[in-house]
Amino acid sequence: MTITVRDVRSFKQRGERFTMLTAYDHPTGRILDEVGIPLILVGDSVGNNVLGYETTIPVTMEEMLHHTRAVVRGVKEALVIGDMPFLSFDTSLEESVRNAGRFLKEGGAHAVKLERPSVEVAAAIVDRGIPVMGHIGLGPQSVHAMGGYRVQGRTEEEAERLLDQAGALEKAGIFAIVLEGIPAKVAARITDALSIPTIGIGAGPHCDGQVLVINDLLGLSGGTYPKFAKPYADLRGEIARAVTAFRDEVRSGAFPDAAHSYA
Ligand code: KIV
Repeated sequence: MTITVRDVRSFKQRGERFTMLTAYDHPTGRILDEVGIPLILVGDSVGNNVLGYETTIPVTMEEMLHHTRAVVRGVKEALVIGDMPFLSFDTSLEESVRNAGRFLKEGGAHAVKLERPSVEVAAAIVDRGIPVMGHIGLGPQSVHAMGGYRVQGRTEEEAERLLDQAGALEKAGIFAIVLEGIPAKVAARITDALSIPTIGIGAGPHCDGQVLVINDLLGLSGGTYPKFAKPYADLRGEIARAVTAFRDEVRSGAFPDAAHSYA
């Protein structure tokens, strides 16, 4: 690790816009690290992007630690953040701190992310010397409570609530905060009000940094993508093309040819 939480804070002080991406495995972690993505999030979105769950709710600590270790083994420079899964925190302070510690001790991560405005829990984890990233707005772990994946902060009252949550989490000592599914103007107000960096996903252009789910960025999922997700590639199409070519060449006898066989 050469990127530290101090560097992340200084991105904002210098007005430097920065990126975070999710990674769930070793090769992806390695590529992101090699191209200089400073923050790598082992998101609990591993649940719906890799493990085939419908939501992030079933994801367990053991699954998160397994994927975190794989990513960490591929990373030399970036700060790796482990995403605390549903009910691994916010139950008791003791359990929250213990599970946060497992991300560092057993997973090799450098920080954890809490997908709730849990101020007391964040403070207790920070107090143990574990850097915490906050996450407010649309929290996929609360999909059932929200009645779907709904943009948060559309009314002035809700916007004020988000501002209060962000301010309280900053006071608790978090080093950065994800703003998810929030109107751009509200995200801009929060970004202006905080001295720690905001990292937006579906929160418009005024955040200090931006994060995307790697499967969305690579066009791996197919079908329709959320409004905020921009596929920069069509890897699903490319994978389908490659495996179809392999199948067809085996069927026709074109593969393996002499170049791919031992004499
Ligand atoms: O799990 C995840 O991918 C996340 C990002 C959407 C920030 O929490």
